[in-house]
Amino acid sequence: MQVLLVGGGGREHALAWALSGSGLLGKLWVAPGNAGIAEIAECVAIGAEDVAGLVAFAQAQAVDLVVVGPEAPLTLGLADACAAAGIRCFGPSAAAAKLEGSKAFTREVTTAAGVPGAEWARFTDAAEARAYVRRKGAPIVVKADGLAAGKGVVVAATVAEAEQAITEIMEERVHGAAGAEILIEECLMGQEVSFFALCDGTTALPMAAAQDHKRVGDGDTGPNTGGMGAYSPPPAFTPEIEAQVMDRIIRPTLAEMAKRGTPFRGVLFAGLMLTESGPRLIEFNVRFGDPECQVLMLRLQSDLLAALLAACDGELDRFALRWSEEAAMVVVMAAKGYPGAYQKGSVIEGLERAAQVPGAQVFHAGTARDAHGSLVATGGRVLGVAASGATLAEARGAAYAAVDAVNWPEGFCRRDIGWRALN
Ligand code: AMP
Ligand code: GLY
Repeated sequence: MQVLLVGGGGREHALAWALSGSGLLGKLWVAPGNAGIAEIAECVAIGAEDVAGLVAFAQAQAVDLVVVGPEAPLTLGLADACAAAGIRCFGPSAAAAKLEGSKAFTREVTTAAGVPGAEWARFTDAAEARAYVRRKGAPIVVKADGLAAGKGVVVAATVAEAEQAITEIMEERVHGAAGAEILIEECLMGQEVSFFALCDGTTALPMAAAQDHKRVGDGDTGPNTGGMGAYSPPPAFTPEIEAQVMDRIIRPTLAEMAKRGTPFRGVLFAGLMLTESGPRLIEFNVRFGDPECQVLMLRLQSDLLAALLAACDGELDRFALRWSEEAAMVVVMAAKGYPGAYQKGSVIEGLERAAQVPGAQVFHAGTARDAHGSLVATGGRVLGVAASGATLAEARGAAYAAVDAVNWPEGFCRRDIGWRALN
């Protein structure tokens, strides 16, 4: 089987690594990939958002399956373009990808499906939004409706902070057109968990949960990032909670999407708050999380390619996934300055030594080879240093031993990944 994987981050390196272990795989291309992916697959210089270029390549190479990592090509219609060209694609249609692309759309769908979430209201008028915030009081959450690179959400501790956020998003348009409409939500309290379910349009198969660390600094301080580390499984996410999430959140959403004529195929990523009154939905994403995917792939024992094909072909009702009992952790190494401005081009050494730590697996996120063949940093999040272990404490020990083997003075990482489960 010939596979084209789209994307070039740590998530895609982890997916490429898992796909490489499949007995069904013949050839794997990754567009655009990165320096780590280039060691296990053939990278092709096509941007992840170049829908026409990706489809043309897939046709020319007789690709059997396109696997889409990030959300942007999905919202741009890559799955639809593949379908039109007769190529199987793992990932939802543009219409179903609206579950990530539009928060207001998601609220409509989940309200119709009776999914437990935050109380919410939507506004296109800033004065009305401010009046609503004053009436509800704080803490309260203000969100830009469209995609804002993960930065369109303000959890406001005071009414003044919420009003300020409304002004910035709607009137100053700091996130551009994404701020034409906003949502204002009740602030949910509890532990946050990322949960993943494989979907084929009608059947949903639970995968696993992971806990991400969104803030840049130890102790969950500083600005939000794409995610600075993750572990799986989170002890707070019990089998009872998983069953509730499947019954109250995932399956009703899948049924509602099918009813609307836009069935969801792909991986549904539920951002959940484990509140005192049970799990509640914060948001959906229509792809694997990054770095969550890295720990999921370390724990997955089933053939990933077979699972993705079953999702594409509507055969998940006959499929089962096996997971390791072991724990896994990933520590993200980022360029100093991230998520603000950072330098590119610094040299990274010591990955061979890191790879020798028992249980460790280093995934590349933002790396390339320079003219001399040296490994250099090309992004904000640069490496996902991952490890598995019999316990979470062992996985943490191995992950940080591997981090310490990496020689990259221009990089940094959090030192407390897993603290909620380990303290
Ligand atoms: P998002 O960009 O939608 O992933 O949201 C970013 C972060 O804001 C989430 O990971 C949560 O930590 C927080 N958040 C979003 N909505 C809520 C809510 N209704 N209550 C509490 N926290 C929230
Ligand atoms: N790590 C969170 C995300 O991928 O959105």
